[in-house]
Amino acid sequence: MKRIGILTSGGDSSGMNAAVRAIARSAMNAGLEAYGINYGYKGLVEGNIFKLETKELDGIINRGGTILYSARFPEFAQEETQLKGIEQLKKFGIDALVVIGGDGSYHGAEKLTKHGFNSIGVPGTIDNDIPGTDFTIGFDTAVNVATEALDRINDTATSHQRTFVVEVMGRGAGDIALWAGNAAGADEIVIPEHDYDIAKIAQHIKDNEKNGKDHFLIVLAEGVMSAQDFKAELDKHGDFDSRAVTLAHVQRGGTPTAKDRVLANKLGDYAIQLLMQGKGGLAIGIHNNQLEAHDIIDTLENHKHETDVSLLDLNDRVRF
Ligand code: ADP
Ligand code: F6P
Repeated sequence: MKRIGILTSGGDSSGMNAAVRAIARSAMNAGLEAYGINYGYKGLVEGNIFKLETKELDGIINRGGTILYSARFPEFAQEETQLKGIEQLKKFGIDALVVIGGDGSYHGAEKLTKHGFNSIGVPGTIDNDIPGTDFTIGFDTAVNVATEALDRINDTATSHQRTFVVEVMGRGAGDIALWAGNAAGADEIVIPEHDYDIAKIAQHIKDNEKNGKDHFLIVLAEGVMSAQDFKAELDKHGDFDSRAVTLAHVQRGGTPTAKDRVLANKLGDYAIQLLMQGKGGLAIGIHNNQLEAHDIIDTLENHKHETDVSLLDLNDRVRF
C-alpha cells in the first residue's frame, strides 16, 4: 500500500472537507501518498486525479462544500464505466480508494470492491440514511441549520397565529425531520417511516386553539410529500391561515458543527488505519459511539438504515 485515492460523491454535506483532510493527513502521516479525485465518479472515469499536498488541506476543516467537488454520474452504474474507473486508478498507481458519500456513492464503492479494487465507504450525507452507522458526516450540521430555521419560523408563526408546514430534506429518510422537529419543539413531525392521519393533525390544531395555543409547527420530511401539497391537504380540513416553507439546499452548506468535524476526523483516520492493516472492501461508521467496519457488499445487500422512530413518540409526549 503506497497510494490512496479520495473522492466525494452525490449530494455534498458539511464536513466532507474535514473528512478529506483527515483521510489525506492521516495517510501522509502513515507514509502514504494521497490523491484527490475531482467530481466524484465522473472525475474518476475521466482521470481528473491529482496528488494532494499537505498545504492544500490547510484551512478546510471548517469549510462547507467539498474542495474535491461532487457530481451525480448515473453512468457509473454500468459495469463498463466502473472498469474504466479502475483503469484510471491503476494508471495513477492508486492501491485503494476512499469514497465519501451517501447511499448511492456507497454502491459505487461496492461495485469497485466486487471488481477486486479495494474501496472503503465513509458516510457523508445530510440524510443519515446509510446502513452500518448511527450518524453520517453532515447530518448534525443539517439538523442544526434546520433547527435554527424552525426557531425563526416559530417566531413569526407566533406573532401571526399561523400554522406552518416546513419541509426538510432527507430523501427517503425522516431523520432530519425527527431531530430538528424535536429540537424545535414541533407540534407534529411527519416522516415516511410512520403513518400519519391528516384529519387528526387538523384536529390537533383545533384542540390547541381551544386550549389557548394559536400557532402550530409541522415539520415534514420531503420523503412524504412537498410542503405545498401537504398544506393543500391540510387546508381541506379547516381554515388555518397556513403557510408552506421548503428549506431545501440551505441544509447542505455552511460551517460544519464541531460534532461533524470530529466524526470526520474519527472516520477519516479509521479508514487509513484499516487500510494500513491490509483491510478493505468496507463500509465504516459509528455505532453506540464505537467505530465499526463492516463488509461493504453485505452491508448494502442485507442491511438497511434504521431511523430512530422513538423520537416521534418522545416528541408527542413533550409537546402541547
Ligand atoms: P448519494 O451518494 O448522496 O446517495 P447518489 O444517489 O446521487 O448520491 O449517488 C452518487 C453517485 O454514486 C451517482 O451519481 C453514481 O455515480 C454513483 N452510484 C449510485 N448508484 C450506483 C450504483 N448502483 N452502482 C454504481 N454507482 C452508483
Ligand atoms: O442526498 C442529499 C440530498 O440533499 C437529499 O436530501 C435530497 O433529496 C437530494 O440530495 C437533493 O438533490 P439535488 O441536490 O440533486 O437537488
